[in-house]
Amino acid sequence: MNSNVSAVAGTAAERRLFIGGEWVPASTGRTFPVTDPATGEQLAEVADGGAEDARRAVEAAHEAFSAWSRTPALVRGRILRRAAALMRERQETLARQLTREMGKPIKEARGEIEYAASFFDWFAGEAERVYGDIIPNSVPGKRHMVIKQPVGVVAAITPWNFPAAMVTRKLGPALAAGCTVVLLAEAGLPAGVVNLVTAKDPRPVGQEFLTNPLVRKITFTGSTEVGKYLMREAAAQVKRVSLELGGHAPVIVFDDADVDKAVQGTIASKFRNMGQTCVCANRIFVQQGILDEFTRRFTEAVAALKVGNGLNEDVQVGPLIDRAGLEKVQRHVEDAVSRGARVLTGGRVLEGDEFSGGCYYAPTVLLNVREGMRIMEEETFGPVAPIIPFDTESEAYRRANDSRYGLAAYVFTENVSRAVRAAERLEYGIVGVNEGLPSTAQVPFGGFKESGIGREGGPYGIHEFVEVKLVGLAIAEDVP
Ligand code: SIN
Repeated sequence: MNSNVSAVAGTAAERRLFIGGEWVPASTGRTFPVTDPATGEQLAEVADGGAEDARRAVEAAHEAFSAWSRTPALVRGRILRRAAALMRERQETLARQLTREMGKPIKEARGEIEYAASFFDWFAGEAERVYGDIIPNSVPGKRHMVIKQPVGVVAAITPWNFPAAMVTRKLGPALAAGCTVVLLAEAGLPAGVVNLVTAKDPRPVGQEFLTNPLVRKITFTGSTEVGKYLMREAAAQVKRVSLELGGHAPVIVFDDADVDKAVQGTIASKFRNMGQTCVCANRIFVQQGILDEFTRRFTEAVAALKVGNGLNEDVQVGPLIDRAGLEKVQRHVEDAVSRGARVLTGGRVLEGDEFSGGCYYAPTVLLNVREGMRIMEEETFGPVAPIIPFDTESEAYRRANDSRYGLAAYVFTENVSRAVRAAERLEYGIVGVNEGLPSTAQVPFGGFKESGIGREGGPYGIHEFVEVKLVGLAIAEDVP
């Protein structure tokens, strides 16, 4: 489980948790440091919450649930819109803080704040569209009505790679549906509707979420291994779960692709957030007829990427999140090279003045990558692009689908029939055709196979936070 645990809440006052509408110290009395991955400098001390804090947060959310769930959808929507406006007003401050906490380039961080705010806007509208049904009766004297109601208290566990957007992608639909959860007291939320518990060791907090019967739903973004654990444990109380887990995205570049689009789209997908997204390109299959040209132009473009501290406006690739992340990238490259892969650019840790104290890895392109190498089996979560040649269309689908993951895939082709075939045959929840950044607030985001359960975003996103209830009515047909 990762260390950015938001239970029932949001960001804020250093050394404090946000529970029941108040900033309070952790019951453990402890804090933990947050460091800048670009410099190693300590930025802040954050409250280190434990099971007792999680319990209090869940109880506060439970207490707030009755009033919040009965608050008209229109009013809930207005509060979400206000939250979005506040985020936009503070975009620059929030973006700079985000870059310093986790390293992403400042332009991407600004983009993330806008992306995060857009989930509040979208779900503000969806709050008003949680429609029910009236189903025709088959016998006289009966009526069938279907209504949708919020699931209850939601525990949200969010990752470090999108510290703002992955919070709002969960909070937006949960609050819109009438559930109680987390964040932004200034937007006008009643006390307890949103609570925040941060923790260095997320296990005690996670355990409380799993065993406390007041929690009716767990929504998680993170690794497949932790997702499986949460799903297993949630079964004991049949808690609802939504899981957005790991990916191992294939890119398929066909002979008929527009090379500019293929190079730009693959770079956008691969190097966004330094390669640390669940939808990042991880296996780049290139058809033989275009292999030389694509590889040459792609390698030139990768070699030209500007690496450095994300606070500099011209930087395109920042540091990795920490040493462990950097070492994993090193292991993947070393393993591939020891089994015959060739480094076309990068392939090394960046050190020296400009990079001192940070976790920098040079944007890398590998050629002659084959199945059996670690990089083909596991998510690298770093700026390494492995190129794998292929011959036929069927072979590309077979090799691309040969993975336990099924989150995102990308295809580059100018042939419309092939584009449709690829979109249908790839076993992935998201397929980008001639583009590398398909996610926005109004579309479903989620995976097949071991990449997760449920969808976030779009009209689908709010369904994860409602229960469907049948109301059967017996009525007298005759007017007395
Ligand atoms: C993720 O990596 O989990 C989120 C990426 C996105 O929303 O595009």
